[in-house]
Parts: sequence; C-alpha cells; structure tokens
Amino acid sequence: MLRTHNSQELNASLVGREVVVAGWVDRRRDHGGLIFIDVRDRSGLVQVVFNPEKSADCHKQAEDLRSEFVVQVTGVVSPRPDGTLNSKLATGEIEIIADSVSILNTSETPPFYINEDVDIDENLRLKYLYLNMRRPRVRDTILLRHQVMRFMRNYFDGLSFVEVETPILGKSTPEGARDYLVPSRVHPGKFYALPQSPQQMKQLLMVGGLERYYQIAKCFRDEDTRADRQPEFTQLDVEMSFIEEDDIMSIAEDMFISLVRQLRPEKRMNIPFQRITYSEAMERYGTDKPDLRFDMRIGDVSQIVAESEFGVFKNTLASGGKVKAIALPGCAAYSRQELAHLTELAQSYGAKGLLSLALGECASLEALTLECVKSVASKYLTLEQVRQIAVCAGAKPGDLIVFVADTDSVVTNSLGRLRQEMGLRLKLADPGQFTFAWVEDFPLLEWNKDFNRWQATHHPFTAPLDADIPLLDSAPSKVGSRAYDIVLNGHEVGGGSIRIHHAWLQRKIFHVMGYNDADIDERFGHLLQAFSYGAPPHGGIAVGLDRLVMLLSGTDNIRDVIPFPKNQNAMDMLFGAPAFATAEQLEDVHIQLLEE
Ligand code: AMO
Repeated sequence: MLRTHNSQELNASLVGREVVVAGWVDRRRDHGGLIFIDVRDRSGLVQVVFNPEKSADCHKQAEDLRSEFVVQVTGVVSPRPDGTLNSKLATGEIEIIADSVSILNTSETPPFYINEDVDIDENLRLKYLYLNMRRPRVRDTILLRHQVMRFMRNYFDGLSFVEVETPILGKSTPEGARDYLVPSRVHPGKFYALPQSPQQMKQLLMVGGLERYYQIAKCFRDEDTRADRQPEFTQLDVEMSFIEEDDIMSIAEDMFISLVRQLRPEKRMNIPFQRITYSEAMERYGTDKPDLRFDMRIGDVSQIVAESEFGVFKNTLASGGKVKAIALPGCAAYSRQELAHLTELAQSYGAKGLLSLALGECASLEALTLECVKSVASKYLTLEQVRQIAVCAGAKPGDLIVFVADTDSVVTNSLGRLRQEMGLRLKLADPGQFTFAWVEDFPLLEWNKDFNRWQATHHPFTAPLDADIPLLDSAPSKVGSRAYDIVLNGHEVGGGSIRIHHAWLQRKIFHVMGYNDADIDERFGHLLQAFSYGAPPHGGIAVGLDRLVMLLSGTDNIRDVIPFPKNQNAMDMLFGAPAFATAEQLEDVHIQLLEE
C-alpha cells in the first residue's frame, strides 16, 4: 500500500505517530514560511504542513505542488496550534508535519474547481466526469448509490429471493418506448433488442419455478430524456409466485421504510403509505404521481359556473369541456406581471390561458364582499358563486384562485403541473418529508389516438380484474387492472402488477390491442407457450433505482446520481457515443447507410 492511513482514519489518537498518506492536492496555501496543502482522498481531507525549518528539501518540493497533483506524504501527526482548529473538517483537530513528499503524478489545471461546490455547465461536467467525481457531493452520491444497492441485496436475500441476471441481447419487451436495436452479424437483417425491462424474463423465471427473484437490472428505452429519465437506467426488479397485490406491496413498503430509516434517518415518513386510486389522483391532483406533501386540490367548478354568462366558461361548458380551479395560498396580491408569468406557465403545460380570481383580505369567506374580489370574471359571478368556488378550490381570503377552462384532459394536465410547480415555489412541500403513496386501480387499457387502437396502460402482461374480464370485448375502457405504482414526493419511483398467467387470457388481451394471431405468435409465442406448461400465479414490481437515489440525495436531476450518464441529447459526452461505425463494421452487420 502506498499509504498507512486514509484521511478518515486520522485523528488526535495518532498524535506523535509517523503516517503515510496519499491522495490529490485539494488546495495549496503558501504562507511565506509555511506551505499548507490539503490532501484529498475518497474519505476526506487532511492538512499537511511543510515547514522549511523541519525539512528544507521537502519544503522546496512543496513549492512545485499544484491542484490535483497526486502525492504521497510521510510525516508526523500533530495537534493543530490553538486557534487553528477546524470544526468543519473531520480531521480538523490535527495536521501532518511533512518529512517527505513524492509527486506520484502531475495534473493539468482542471477545467473547473474541484474544491468548490459551484454549478458547472453540465456538458463540461459530463465531459470531465472523472474530475466531477472527485467533488465531495458527487462522490457522496456514488457512495449512496452503492449503499442503496447493498441494502436492497441484503433485504431481498434475507427474504429468500434469488438474484438472477437476465440477458441484454434479447427480443423486444414492450414497456411503451422504442427499442434500442443491435444488428446481428451472424443473421443478416436480424436484430437483437436491448431490454426495456426484464419483464418477460422474470415471468419466465416464475414459470421455471424460482418463486422469488430480484435483480438490479439495466434497462434501455429510446425515449426523450427528462430531468428524471435516462435512455439507460437501472431498476430494482422483483417477481414472486403464489402472491396477491398486498403481498408485493407490503414487501416493497417495508423495504422503502427500512431503507429510508437506515440511509436517511432524518426524513419523516407517512406510515403506512397512503393508498389512492388512479381516478382520485387524477381528479384531485391532475396526475397519477401526485406530490402529497401538500394538499392544494383541484376543484371542479363547472357546475358552479354553469349559469354564468362569462364567455370563456359558457363556451367551454357548451362544447363539453370543464372548468377547474386551484387555490394558491397567500397569492391574492400577485402583480400583473406575476399573473402573466403564471399564465405563461399554464400555457407551457398546454392550457390556452389562465383566468385568476383574487380573494382580498377579509375575516372569513362569509365576510367576503364582491369589492374584495379581483377578477375579469367577477362581474359575471354572484357573491354566492364566488364563495362556492372558493370552497370547491379550498381557498381562503388572501388566496389566488386560478382556473383553466378546456377539455377535461387539458384542464387536468395543466392544473396538475401548475399545482406541482407552484407547490414547490410556494414552499408548501416540506423538504424534510418523504411522502410515499400507492396509486391503484388503474385502467387496464387506454386508447392510442395516433395508432387508433387500445394499448396497455402499464404493459400488456398486466392482469385485468377478474370481474372485468367479460368487459374486454364490450367496454375495454372500463376494464380495471391489477397494477399499482409507488409514488414519492411527486415522482413515480416504481410500478408493478399481478400478471396474466393463462395463455388464453394473454392472447385475448393481445387481440383487444389489435394484434392478430400471426403477430402474437411471432412476437410473444415463447411466452404463451411457457404459460401452457403450468405457469403459477405471479406478480412483481420494479423500482427506478436512479430516481430513488435522486430523491434520497436531494437532487432533482437524475444525471447527478448516475456515474456515467448521457446528456439531455442522449449523448455520452466523455466517450462521444453514439459514434459512427467504420465501413467494415457496417458491412459485417449487413447495414448500408442512407444518404441523409
Ligand atoms: P415501469 O416502466 O413502470 O415498469 O418502470 C419501473 C420504474 O422504472 C423507472 N423508470 C425510469 N427511470 C429512469 N429513466 C427512465 N427512462 C425510466 N423509465 C422507468 C420508474 C418506474 O416507476 N416491467 C415493469 C415493472 C413491473 O411490472 O414489474 C416496468 O418496467 O421509476
């Protein structure tokens, strides 16, 4: 070993001992006679002092040290002189008086400061991600990710789950995104698909009798990146046989609770986790992944304003639309500019416009007069209607009520997103709180307007509610599913379901989704055949590991917690992937490029 101790192991109990440390020069300060450097290793920092009176040679060498040089220092641990203790540093009581130093490597001047926690252009960070990793905050998230994975492995191992690796080169498993394809050299014109998830594989493991499976699995989805989405990401993937919804949910819930207690003990949680149906979530919060740290419910005021002569309300309702509202607490005094900004925000979420109604300060809703109400619509509303609107939107005097009038889906989506954004901006969401919620009772199918066919709300292997099977032909939209999602502070961190385990039912679902028998046999014949050999009832869940680590580490950018992430354009800035292939490589895999 090139060191006797890492910095974490150094403390006052070692005073007087000679030690050898190795690491990077975090900072160098030249105080005339004395030179100080902070040596950084994975575990932290330690201060080294070069005193010309102790060793002139060593002091001379220290003059050459620069940031990020790699050094090995031998010296004696000493207490820091009075008045120079640093309580912010774990090693702040001591320093090392250097006897000798060797430079193990030099370094160019880094393109950004490593020892300062400042924002750095993301592409620069990603291009030099090995330097970014030397920054304590980034290093800590990598360590946290490791702790989360270790926790999960121990947890599932303790419950007799078996970790099984599943292949990366496979056949398409639909999860709603485009596949990444890999051309085959041996089979001209054929392609492997990278797994969007190990969904079918884990189901086959259940048919194979494994009963309890988990894996920390890589998944690949060619879809647009977002703050909480990456083309390549990691799932904690779980599947069990002979179980029902509550069995999976309680195992997952216990895992989340113990994980947070162990790794983020300072966070408050709501236990047991709240359960909410999909339709309640959409109606109240305008999303199937509501942030339940704050309430701010959407109120449907369509009935209340139905009699109003106000053009926007009247026309929207006449054309079958809805008028819904949310209350922004304490925002009644918003300026014209602030209101314009809110409108822009709502428009960016698809609303045509945003109407506001400010409830001026008064003792109570009962004491409200029309003079206290500020809105372009107020002359079309009676005082009684304003009061009813306020009750419906949960508003009190001093609040700003904002309305969207449009089709139900536009209203729901835009108000849902506005609620989430404004809840955060108005600091209604307590950052010390982890509010988990199960979302249940999803519809099995949804209509895809672009392709003119039914598609699975989750994935096509999700079981319908038994009682709804007869509706598959007559009313597909009414068929409920046995799926559940787990939501944390407004992010979907996991999802799963009880699966179909009968070949006939699986075929039936594919038929409803518009596949004919030939398509089904070509794409899913292997699964249907497996189901014909005694597939046990089974179900499972997958947790987005990156998203969970993102929330545990308090960032809102998934790329901060993935050691080698792709940028917003799905590019790897370090390696420069994707890259062009050589003509020989393309020829090998029988691919000819079209001139763009
Ligand atoms: P689902 O598609 O809901 O379910 O994925 C499970 C969880 O994975 C995370 N996730 C992502 N994280 C980062 N980037 C992405 N592009 C991305 N896509 C999904 C989310 C999500 O909740 N096979 C099923 C699970 C099952 O039924 O057991 C599946 O993959 O946190």
